[in-house]
This record gives sequence, C-alpha cells and structure tokens, in this order.
Amino acid sequence: MLVLGIETSCDDTSLALYDDARGVLDVCTAAQIAHDRYGGVVPEIASREHVRTIVPVYEALLARAGVSASRIDGIAVTAGPGLVGSLLVGVGFASGLARGLDRPVVGVHHIEAHILANELEGEVLQCPCVVLVVSGGHTQLFRVERPGRYELLGQTRDDAAGEAFDKIAKLLGLGFPGGPAIERAAREGRDDAVAFPRAMRGRGFDFSFSGLKTAVRLHLERNAATTREAVADVAASAQRAIVDALVEKTAAAARAEGVRDVYVAGGVAANGVLREALAAACDEWGCVLHVPPLAWCTDNGAMVARAGWYRLREGADDRDSLDVFARRPLATA
Ligand code: KG4
Ligand code: ZN
Repeated sequence: MLVLGIETSCDDTSLALYDDARGVLDVCTAAQIAHDRYGGVVPEIASREHVRTIVPVYEALLARAGVSASRIDGIAVTAGPGLVGSLLVGVGFASGLARGLDRPVVGVHHIEAHILANELEGEVLQCPCVVLVVSGGHTQLFRVERPGRYELLGQTRDDAAGEAFDKIAKLLGLGFPGGPAIERAAREGRDDAVAFPRAMRGRGFDFSFSGLKTAVRLHLERNAATTREAVADVAASAQRAIVDALVEKTAAAARAEGVRDVYVAGGVAANGVLREALAAACDEWGCVLHVPPLAWCTDNGAMVARAGWYRLREGADDRDSLDVFARRPLATA
C-alpha cells in the first residue's frame, strides 16, 4: 500500500510517500524561513506559506520518486493539534486530492505521528513501552500498549521543552529555532557554570519549564552575557537543566511501568546531549533506548503516512468528516 503523508501543522510543509513493503520512498519538505525575523512562528504567515508551497512540494515529491498520482492508495494528513490556519491548508489539499483521485483520506493526530516515527526504519514499536514526546508544543510521557493505545503518564504544566529551548535562545540572542542554536552554543560552555533550578524533581511524571526560562532571564539581568563564553555557559547550563528533567522523569516512568523499551520522539529528540543522557540512564536502569534518525524527529510527512497507514489498511476513510483541531488529547483506542 502506497500512502501519501501530509504535514502542515506548524511551519514546515512536508509531504512523503510511504510504502508499507518498501518503507519511505521519498520526503519533500519546505521549511519556512519567513518567521526568522519575528523570533517565532507567526500563524498568519505560516498558513500563507503553506498555500504557496504545498502544490510545488507535492509535484516535486512525485517527480523525484518517479511515482504517478494514480499509484497512491491512500492519503494521511495531520488534522491537529497545531495552528488551525496551517492545518486547514493540508487538510483542504488532502480532501481535494482524495476526491480527485478517488482514494481514502484519514486525519492523523500529530503526536501519534511523532510516536510512530519510530517505526519508519522498518522496526515496529516493542510494546509495552514508554515514549517521551518532546517537541516545540508538547512534552509528554506515554505508556504505549500497542500502536493506537496510548496512556498519558505525565506532561508539562506550562512550557514545552522545545519552547523552553526557543525562549532561552531568544533571551541569549541566538535566533530561531532555539534548540539547535542552544546545542551548538553549549558545546563551548560548561554545563555546571550556572545552577539553574530543576522543577518538580521527584514529584510524579509532570514537567515544568517556565521557571527555568524565568531563572535564565533573571540571571541575565544580573550577569549580562556579553562574551561568547558567557553565552555558551548559560546555554550549556540551561540545556543541562532541561535534559536532566526529561531524563529523570523518563527513567522513572520506565521503571514504574516495568517496561524494557524506551522511545523518544519529536523535534527535541534531535538533541545530542539528550540522546546521550537518555542512553546512559537507560543503560543504568537496564532499559533499551530507541532513537529515531534525526530526519524523523522534526516534523515530516513520513511519520504522518505511517500513522495513517494503520487506519487506512483497515479501510478507514474520513473523506466526509475530516476536520482540523487546535488542541485535543491523544485519544486511546
Ligand atoms: O517536533 P517539532 O519539529 O515541531 C513541533 O511539533 O513542535 O519540534 C520543534 C522543536 C523546536 O522547539 C526546536 O527548537 C526543537 O524542536 N529542536 C531542538 C533541536 N532541534 C529542534 N531542541 C533541542 N536540540 C535540538 N538539536
Ligand atoms: Zn511536531
């Protein structure tokens, strides 16, 4: 079965062709740079950019993969959560294409897509498992019984981990997106230079990152980071605080749930320091850590195709009911 996956929930227009026998055939992504000078994603700009790029991205994908549209067996599109204007572009395009080609289309939950990005290399999730989803909008820990069955164990009470990276990068004048910028700057810094707080330590599986952002702001008000070295020290120390919280809660969740397999997903999973620290913690706890390749961590159409494939293969078709949603917890079946 050949599935076209469409992701437009935030600022990337990403389409992919996924074949359940051969894996990902190709991915085509247009990253939006128009937001750079605003220091964050501007929803109105994002939806206009999606409108501008979605057809060229679709055509480039088919041309590159050497596949004609008639070979597509089904379409999977992110229906939410995300920016409603951006989601509407993907869902509108998917609905039109589904009718034009007379093929089924299914709406996909963006977080489920991130979780199932771990299946894009051919290996299925080893369930039951614990999955840490860390992106720009979400920080959540799930127990997964099987694809489609998710139990929320904990989540952030305020900012998401990626949001914390982005806001702290902004305070340090490091640009957007902040995660990669902080990781780069932190390489030259000492992660114990500033003792930033670790919120909610030892208390359940919920996270909180807004206090850290405030602590960084207050620190910078008192000690202006005027040198490259000072910026690197703050970046490294803040990154360490975020990573410590993520690792501590994930390891504790895996132990409490008695699972062997631990997965990580979402844009922040691209962070090398997080990957190393999670690997070390999993070694210590006797767990097996699975990390998707970098390309499948950030938003992409392939993970949407894989998530939608589960419903398409059962004959699902949302053609007459497809709608977008800004927020909705990941439903468990
Ligand atoms: O999953 P994603 O591509 O989009 C959302 O669904 O939000 O995640 C984007 C987030 C941004 O906050 C970005 O700063 C963060 O992922 N990110 C990173 C790294 N690469 C991307 N955070 C830390 N380290 C990285 N290397
Ligand atoms: Zn995402």
